[in-house]
Amino acid sequence: MTDIPAIRETLLATVAQSNAPQEVLRAPEFRKLYAQIPALPAEERGAFGQAVNELKTAIEAAVDARQAELDQVDVAPIDVTAPFDVNATRPNLLPAENGSEHPLTREMTIISDIFTRMGFVAEESREIDDQFHMFESLNFPKGHPARDDYDTFMTTQVDQNGDSFVAPAHTSTMQHRLLVQYRDMLAQGEPIAALVPDRVFRNEDLDAKHEHTFYQVEGIYVGKSINVGNLVATLQTFLEEYYGRKLNVRINPFYFPFTEPSFEFALECPFCENGCSVCSGSKWVELLGCGMIHPNVLRAANIDPAEYTGFAFGCGIDRLVMMKYQIEDIRNLESGKLDFLRQF
Ligand code: PHE
Repeated sequence: MTDIPAIRETLLATVAQSNAPQEVLRAPEFRKLYAQIPALPAEERGAFGQAVNELKTAIEAAVDARQAELDQVDVAPIDVTAPFDVNATRPNLLPAENGSEHPLTREMTIISDIFTRMGFVAEESREIDDQFHMFESLNFPKGHPARDDYDTFMTTQVDQNGDSFVAPAHTSTMQHRLLVQYRDMLAQGEPIAALVPDRVFRNEDLDAKHEHTFYQVEGIYVGKSINVGNLVATLQTFLEEYYGRKLNVRINPFYFPFTEPSFEFALECPFCENGCSVCSGSKWVELLGCGMIHPNVLRAANIDPAEYTGFAFGCGIDRLVMMKYQIEDIRNLESGKLDFLRQF
């Protein structure tokens, strides 16, 4: 015997929760009940049919009630012609006077200004580049061991040569583009003097001195008879201007595939006479990589290294800024912590 009260209970519960209650009227339970009617003995048919009809009426009423409930949406009327704040409560924004330029942005402007006054033009880098600009154009052929020194992030998508794209690990990725872009200056007797202050990425283990995202300023200068003396004088002038005092500098031999000779450039610690925490007691701070642009890098940009020479440097901006303000942990700079940012 079919248990109509049990079916009724199940269907009512379904209707009460449904967002499309009409569908319950097409439930298989109804079809099964109707299908049973013809097979019943004649004397039972009437009562059973009536019970099924009562069930159907009850479910229909519940469906209508549920639908009415769903149609009842509580929306305040709005005047679409009214100004913004008539219809909406003001969003909870921080007061504008709390905002300020990020210390890195502000310092990058100062750095660019100093170099601009020395005749450099500033250009932007990119946040995704190809391996040609990251490596080949910089005299790192495929398989060159020095590629391993630049551990960065790669895309799974590949270019037409089957190479992944990279998140630039240094601003040197712009060297080739700048040399090509400004090559015509040389023919006009003018030097190429360009600057790239921008963001770079490395797959670093993070600590107080290492971030996966940081900033560098790249500089290139190419002209007739440019030499290491010009390089040192340019960097020293920049650093003295940036720290606002006379400084001694020192260069040590180093290796980069894209410069020859290459140097590590150190600065007499601007904060102490006898050693401090900034210079780890050594009175010198290793600051940046630089050197004379490798002839192959000039050749790749169709510049004749027999006629023109130039220098390049790449300096970590976060490091400069941390030293200037005695910031002890590089991770503060990307953290977005207001209590840190409010100090600037
Ligand atoms: N790109 C180098 C680095 O990030 C620095 C550099 C730039 C060295 C330009 C020489 C010339 O390690």
